[in-house]
Amino acid sequence: ATVRIIGTPMDYGANRRGVDMGPSAIRYGGLADELERAGVESVDAGDLFVPRAEERDPDATPPSEGNAKFLREIEDVCSRLADEVAGTIDDGLFPLVLGGDHSVAIGSMNGSARDATLGAIWFDAHADLNTPRTSPSGNVHGMALAAVLGRGVFGDFEWAHAPAVRESSVAYVGLRSIDDRERALVRDSEMTAFTMSDIDERGITAVVEDALEVATTGTDGIHVSLDLDWLDPNAAPGVGTPVRGGVTYREAHSALETVSKRHDRDNVVRSMDVVEVNPILDEANETAGLAAELASSAFGKRIL
Ligand code: ARG
Ligand code: MN
Ligand code: MN
Ligand code: MN
Repeated sequence: ATVRIIGTPMDYGANRRGVDMGPSAIRYGGLADELERAGVESVDAGDLFVPRAEERDPDATPPSEGNAKFLREIEDVCSRLADEVAGTIDDGLFPLVLGGDHSVAIGSMNGSARDATLGAIWFDAHADLNTPRTSPSGNVHGMALAAVLGRGVFGDFEWAHAPAVRESSVAYVGLRSIDDRERALVRDSEMTAFTMSDIDERGITAVVEDALEVATTGTDGIHVSLDLDWLDPNAAPGVGTPVRGGVTYREAHSALETVSKRHDRDNVVRSMDVVEVNPILDEANETAGLAAELASSAFGKRIL
C-alpha cells in the first residue's frame, strides 16, 4: 500500500523542547528518498497544527489525581491525529506518523484501533506505563502506553476510558529503563516484555518474531511504535531521554526487516509511528536520518 506520512510536531509530552522539530528533521533526513529506494510509494499529508508550548499553560487542565502536563493540548492534537490515521486506513493507505514525543502514539493507536482489534509492538528503552499518579515527571510521553490501555485517570477524554489495545496483545522490545513504581506495573500487566537482556540472550530476530506472534494473535493487525531512544545513544544521539545499552544500528534494521518480512506474508501492519527524534540534541541530523532509514526497512527495503 501507499504510505501516507503524517507529521505531528508535538512536544507537550516531553520534558524539553526540540522533538516538535522531529517531522521536519526526518523529512530532511531523506524519508521520501529512502521510501522510494525501497520501492514504496508515499504521499505526504504535511503536519498537523500544534500550538507552541510557550503559548500554553501546562497545568491548565490537571488530572484529578497526580501530575500530567498539557493534558488538554495533548487531547486536542491526539484526537485530530486519530481521525487522520483512521481516515488514512479507510482510504486504503498506510499511516506513518512522525513525532513528536511518544504521546503521539495515543492518537495513532486510537485511530488505528477504530475499526479493528489492534495489537502493538513497542520498541523503546522505556515502558511508558506511568500514570499521572506514578509519574515522576508529569511528562505524558512516559504515560503514553498506559493511556492507550485505558489505565490511570487522565481526565475526561474519550481515549482515557476506552482501551485501544488489549494488554495481552502488546509486546515490548528492548526495555532497559523503568521507574521504581513502574516496574510492578509492567510485571503485573498481561503484556509481554522483552528486555535488552532477552535480546542479548536470544538475538534480535527471535525476540521480534515472538513479539510479532504476541501482537498478531487474535488481532486484525498491529501498530508498530518506534521510539528512537530504543537504540543505543551511539547510533541515535538525538533523543530527549537517552539510555545506554540499547540496540545497535544493525540490530535495529534487522528488527524492522523482520517486521516487514512478516508483513509481506500476512499483511499484518496497520500503522506505525516514529517518535522522540530531537534535532537540537542530534549530531548533524544523524538520528533523524536513521529514523528515515528504519521506516524504510519496516516498509520493505532490502539490501539485495
Ligand atoms: N519513565 C520516565 C518518565 O515517566 C521517562 C519516560 C521517557 N519516555 C519516552 N517516551 N521517551 O518520565
Ligand atoms: Mn472507518
Ligand atoms: Mn517512549
Ligand atoms: Mn523511550
